[in-house]
Parts: sequence; structure tokens; C-alpha cells
Amino acid sequence: MLRSLFITFEGLDGSGKTTQINRLAAWFKERGPGVLVTRQPGGTAIGDRIRALALDSRSTGLAPMAEMALMFADRAQAIAEVIQPALDAGKIVLCDRFTDSTEAYQGGGRELGSAAVLELHRLLCGNLQPGLTLLLLPSFEASLTRARRRNQRASEESGADEDRFEQEQDAFYRRVWRKYMEIATREPARVVLIEGDFSIDEVHEQIVEAVAKRLAGPAAGALHP
Ligand code: TYD
Repeated sequence: MLRSLFITFEGLDGSGKTTQINRLAAWFKERGPGVLVTRQPGGTAIGDRIRALALDSRSTGLAPMAEMALMFADRAQAIAEVIQPALDAGKIVLCDRFTDSTEAYQGGGRELGSAAVLELHRLLCGNLQPGLTLLLLPSFEASLTRARRRNQRASEESGADEDRFEQEQDAFYRRVWRKYMEIATREPARVVLIEGDFSIDEVHEQIVEAVAKRLAGPAAGALHP
């Protein structure tokens, strides 16, 4: 039987998060039921509508504060509707992005600062903290190239317009990257930083190692495969 654990994945667009979440979800499923995978923004019907609004490149003129508020509206809904109920039911929750994304993109990228993000997290999200955060930071150049290539392909295939962030300049992404590093330095007990250009298998191994360590930790109880 697995016990509940809230794991978030963070990183720049193109960091390989989605592949790694799927790999870890499969790893958990081999060990028992009760794994829930979700993402932000999105993950609920209301969240999907917020996602469309926030990521659509036609949302020109969206003020940075409004953008941050949308991210928190999405998150508050996801916590109420999906995340907290799953944790209460003893599930493992894997979430693609959480408040660290808001701190990195809106706090760092949009230069709104960390204090506002952390305060809103306390007010709107009950200060829910992940038990473990896996921060994937391949080299800056590698993720940027990968993200641009991938997003172009995705837009062509699906016709969905989620390009608003991809149109940002490199300086924006450098600020996001720096803020992620700052978060990792500030919270080493929660955030496991996987930095550098590793293969998909190598990153997966590092993730499994970090998860197993967390599950075996004194406060965490044991994993019973
Ligand atoms: P996502 O679909 O996870 O992008 P990717 O798969 O490329 O990592 O996230 C969409 C975008 O939303 C991404 O560019 C980061 C941005 N974002 C924020 O700016 N703030 C937030 O709080 C969240 C959750 C996402």
C-alpha cells in the first residue's frame, strides 16, 4: 500500500518534465494503485478554461498581476477539486508545475518578486507544500532550443495556440532560470535539483532515487511494493 505524497515537477519549458512524470507515474503504478497525475494550469474543467486564457498568444495586454491571479485561481480550484481530495484518500499526486512556477515565471520572469507569490500561496492555497519537488534544469541553451522546436511542432499538429510564453525573449527565461535556482538554494529539503544534460533514463534514475529516499524517510513511512 502506498501512502499519500505530493510530488511536483518544475523546470523551464522543454526541460523534459512531461516525459519524466509519465515515467514516474508508471513506476508508481507497478507498485500499487492510487497515483494521480495532474498539471497546472489546467487539470480541472475550470482550470482548462483558465489555461486557454492565460496561454493563448491572442491574450495580448494581459497584465502581469492578472496573469499571476489567473495562475492562482487555477491552483486554488485544482487544490479544492483534485489535489487535496486525492491526498486525503491516501494517493500519490504528481503535479506538472505548482507554485514554484508562479514564483519563477511571474515572480522572476515578470519581475513581480517572490514575496507576493508566497503571500498569495498562503492566502489562496492554504500554504499547501509539496513533500518533494523535482526541479529539472538542463542547460539553459538546450532547454530553450528544445522548447521552441517542440512548441512549434505542437501548434502545427493540434492547432491549439499556447504560444504566449514561447514568444518571450531569452532575458525573460534567464530570469525564470535564476529564480528557480534561488528557490532550490532556499529550500534544499524539499527541492531536488537535477541540473545538467542527462539522458531520459539517467534523469529517471535520479528521480526514482530521490522519491525512494523520501518514501523511506522517517516521517514518510515505508513503501510496500
Ligand atoms: P506547461 O504546459 O507546463 O508548459 P511546458 O510543458 O512547456 O513546460 O506550462 C505552460 C506555461 O505556463 C509555461 O510556459 C509556464 C507557464 N506558467 C506560469 O507562467 N506560471 C504558473 O504558475 C504556471 C503553473 C505556468
